[in-house]
Amino acid sequence: MRTWLTERFSLKVPVVCAPMAGVAGGRLAAAVCNAGGLGMIGVGDKTTPDWIVDECRFMRSTGRSFGIGLQAWALPLNSGQLEAAMASGASVVSLSYGAYETYVEGFRSSGMVVATAVGNVREALAAHEAGVDLIIARGAEGGGHGRNDIGTLALLQTVLDAVATPVIAAGGIGSSRGLAAVIAAGAVGAWVGTAFTATPESTTTPNARKRLVAAQDTATVYTTLFDVAAGARWPAEFGERALRNDFYGLWEGREPQLSKDPDALRAMADARLIDDVDVTCIDAGQGVGMLRSDRAASEVIREFARASDLLRAAAAQG
Ligand SMILES: Cc1cc2nc3c(=O)[nH]c(=O)nc-3n(C[C@H](O)[C@H](O)[C@H](O)COP(=O)(O)O)c2cc1C
Repeated sequence: MRTWLTERFSLKVPVVCAPMAGVAGGRLAAAVCNAGGLGMIGVGDKTTPDWIVDECRFMRSTGRSFGIGLQAWALPLNSGQLEAAMASGASVVSLSYGAYETYVEGFRSSGMVVATAVGNVREALAAHEAGVDLIIARGAEGGGHGRNDIGTLALLQTVLDAVATPVIAAGGIGSSRGLAAVIAAGAVGAWVGTAFTATPESTTTPNARKRLVAAQDTATVYTTLFDVAAGARWPAEFGERALRNDFYGLWEGREPQLSKDPDALRAMADARLIDDVDVTCIDAGQGVGMLRSDRAASEVIREFARASDLLRAAAAQG
């Protein structure tokens, strides 16, 4: 499989392991890069610049291309993150969720490929206009934060028709079948989160790992409830897709009351300390049902690589 992505970053497989704050550090990114994909380091609003510097120093020592993912809404509060990302040596930076436009030129002129996630065609046209190099067409199936507007396949087709910029597909792509489908449609690859969340190289907590592997295909929900409970300052327009749990069942549809309930807010903070996954938030997309065991990142990449056989078989049918 040769695409713009594999050629640009010398990859064997057109798969990017998404920057997942709290889940994807240097260890996961390096494992993905070593297996022939592109690994990304996930930066959240509370990530310190020192952590970024350390993880990126480690990544540079691998000699592989890697990426770093920033949350645009949090950058005005975290100028140190911006500086650390600029000096990171990463080949790709993703700037998603919020006003990213003013940062594009700075990263591009330092030689980095700039990517951003879009959830509808209006955002894709704006990203093209802003000079972004790679558009992530992220459908509603995707794990973590984003929009819940349109499913991946409908979004991908619309975006590919609307812009000339390279487009990578995200949301619900959990196996070689999904990768083959989006490559055949014209995407340069797949931007994958959930399929890597249970890998031993991720920093997923032990109980969350067990929940992820046990989860069925219908286990996720799109919500702002967990952000409310955590007192997170995410822009309200971005909910997240996560596993439903007891805490969600208790508070579903009652976010205004939740935000004013000190006991519930304390319960969430305490639960994090003891990895109580009946309460804490575990981000995951609709592909979670495809997670089987805690496979290594290299095995996940190897399975995605089988997409080339599927594409060959599809071509033979024609
Ligand atoms: C656990 C988890 C954490 C995530 N954190 C981030 C993040 O910090 N920054 C980001 O740009 N995207 C984040 N995402 C979203 C991914 O970039 C990507 O859009 C999504 O995982 C694709 O869908 P999939 O999970 O179905 O593969 C996260 C996704 C997951 C599952």
